[in-house]
Amino acid sequence: MFESIQPAPPDAILGLNESFQKDPRAEKVNLTVGVYKDESGTTPILDAVKEAERRLIETETTKSYLSMGGDPDFNRRVRALLLGEDAAAITEGRAVTIQTPGGTAGLRVAADFLVRNGVSRRIWCSRPTWANHHNVFRSAGLDTDHYAYLDDSGTRLDGAAMLESLRQIPPGDVVCLHGCCHNPTGVDPTAEEWTEIIEVARERRWLPLIDLAYQGFGEGLDADAQAVRRCVNAGLEVLVAHSYSKNFGLYAERTGAVTAVTASADQASAVESQLKAAVRSNYSNPPKHGAAIVATILADDSLRQQWLGELAAMRDRIRDLRSQLVAGLTSRLPDRDFHFIEAQKGMFSFSGLTPLQVDRLKTEHAVYIVRSGRINIAGLNASNLDRVCDAIAAVLK
Ligand code: LMR
Repeated sequence: MFESIQPAPPDAILGLNESFQKDPRAEKVNLTVGVYKDESGTTPILDAVKEAERRLIETETTKSYLSMGGDPDFNRRVRALLLGEDAAAITEGRAVTIQTPGGTAGLRVAADFLVRNGVSRRIWCSRPTWANHHNVFRSAGLDTDHYAYLDDSGTRLDGAAMLESLRQIPPGDVVCLHGCCHNPTGVDPTAEEWTEIIEVARERRWLPLIDLAYQGFGEGLDADAQAVRRCVNAGLEVLVAHSYSKNFGLYAERTGAVTAVTASADQASAVESQLKAAVRSNYSNPPKHGAAIVATILADDSLRQQWLGELAAMRDRIRDLRSQLVAGLTSRLPDRDFHFIEAQKGMFSFSGLTPLQVDRLKTEHAVYIVRSGRINIAGLNASNLDRVCDAIAAVLK
């Protein structure tokens, strides 16, 4: 039965991580997959998370299934984190949230919902976008296409081209927008550009599906939710896939959600039931632990403050690393301008390096970045920064 099966090509991000693990060179540096690392190069468990886990071990009384929509307390709390405590969409019952195994499953459930209910058959993604977006959407049966995003330098937004492209998208199609900290580029639209995106969405009547995986890594928790909140406040219906992998450091616990904001409470309730039907046919119901941690932290004032402090520390460290990378590269190649790296937001920087230069980084210098030129800034530290700067300067010369 399996004679004709060919090996799958390596995944653009996770496949590189596997090659890195096999690389015997001691000096190797991994700047591929989007996980936060501290100065010692490890991905820490946040203190607030550890404390929440201690409490859960004491108080948890059952491991029985969650419902298809997950933990209602988690759903309520992350919906408020997303839309704001007093959002009209919440008080009017027009926003529904279900817990999903990570933001990726949030995207998949949203896509399944769109296809199963005949809402739409096509989704448009920025070019470039997260390497897995097209896979997830196509697996659900959506056709995918792209809209313009970057200028010729490959490191900054071409706002006019993006808006022109978004204006061509037909009514009824879906547009995948990155709520903040665009992955892979770190290049976000300005507040004025968001005003125009919202205007185009309203005029052209396409549906935004917003991927929000890095809330808190750009400017702050509320600031990073502004794009979502402005879409909702402008009266748009939206789907949002939100992830708690990065901002709570819960990567392996697969903790995410999908939220739908609709025009009425009745529609919201029908949409919620269809999202749950999509869950049932995929994985039945979500895992419990990560969501219980998030709900515990958000419910307790002191744990919440502790978490906010730890989130701010991660954000500040990445910002500092951006400046150090700019300084390191500028001192080696003074004729080049690297300040775009400081203007980019979140965990990633789109370096503008070509695939060939990226390959040379790997083979000649044991520095791993994603082939699109994406660098995980959070993987830099005092002991690898000089090596990385030397390697990038060498391939750029
Ligand atoms: C990334 O973009 O590196 C992360 O979102 C991890 C992943 O699953 O690709």
